[in-house]
Amino acid sequence: MLIDTHCHLDFKDFKDDMGTVLKRSIDSGIRFIINVGSSMEGTVRSIRIAGENDFIYAAIGIHPHEADSVTENDIKLFAKFLNKPKVVAIGEIGLDYYKNISSRENQKKLFIRLLETAKPANLPLIIHNRDAHMDIIDILKDVIGSSVSGVMHCFSGDEKFLKTCLDMGFFISFTCNITYKNSDKLREIVKLVPMGRLLIETDAPFLAPQDFRGKRNEPMYVKYAAEEVARIKGISFEKVAKITTENAIKLFKF
Ligand code: NI
Repeated sequence: MLIDTHCHLDFKDFKDDMGTVLKRSIDSGIRFIINVGSSMEGTVRSIRIAGENDFIYAAIGIHPHEADSVTENDIKLFAKFLNKPKVVAIGEIGLDYYKNISSRENQKKLFIRLLETAKPANLPLIIHNRDAHMDIIDILKDVIGSSVSGVMHCFSGDEKFLKTCLDMGFFISFTCNITYKNSDKLREIVKLVPMGRLLIETDAPFLAPQDFRGKRNEPMYVKYAAEEVARIKGISFEKVAKITTENAIKLFKF
């Protein structure tokens, strides 16, 4: 039994065969999926997909890439969705200083605005962070405090940043990119994360595992992330499945 804690089934990549993809997920032992919103349109679709499938839950959020084009109406809609059934998390939200698709100023404004709006709902946060470690932490400490319920999705920091995140109470999530040939540094980080704080995800349609690199990723491939964690930690696949499932249930309270 596995949980894919982060994927994007609302993307057009899945529009022709979502039923088949979901069936394959269940057949391969996926217990729950969290479909993560990355724009307001995506969030609307995310809530709909969760409503149509018992084993799918929704996270609501606006990705930092969207920061330049976000409207006041988007924020109002976001606020309205906080209490919808099956919404289990806020995300993905954060900062992306790697691609810089929106200006850093607007990314920070959006991140702060979403955190402030979501704060009263007290839902766990799914944080997207690329090359923005200190700004992420500073903003979280300012708006939420030094103890946070949430997950650093697709973790990409160093040992020092890992310690900061663990000290704040974060779960640390890894995608199938830990299977890549050039991911030695990331595998060293996996070693350092206590099992009680580790989550797995696909981020599908992105980041397909090494064997399928360049192709579309999908929830059933989360097992490749679990297998790699088992190999790195020197424990059984079953143990990784059990602990990461318990961790996800603890954080997202399914
Ligand atoms: Ni994502």
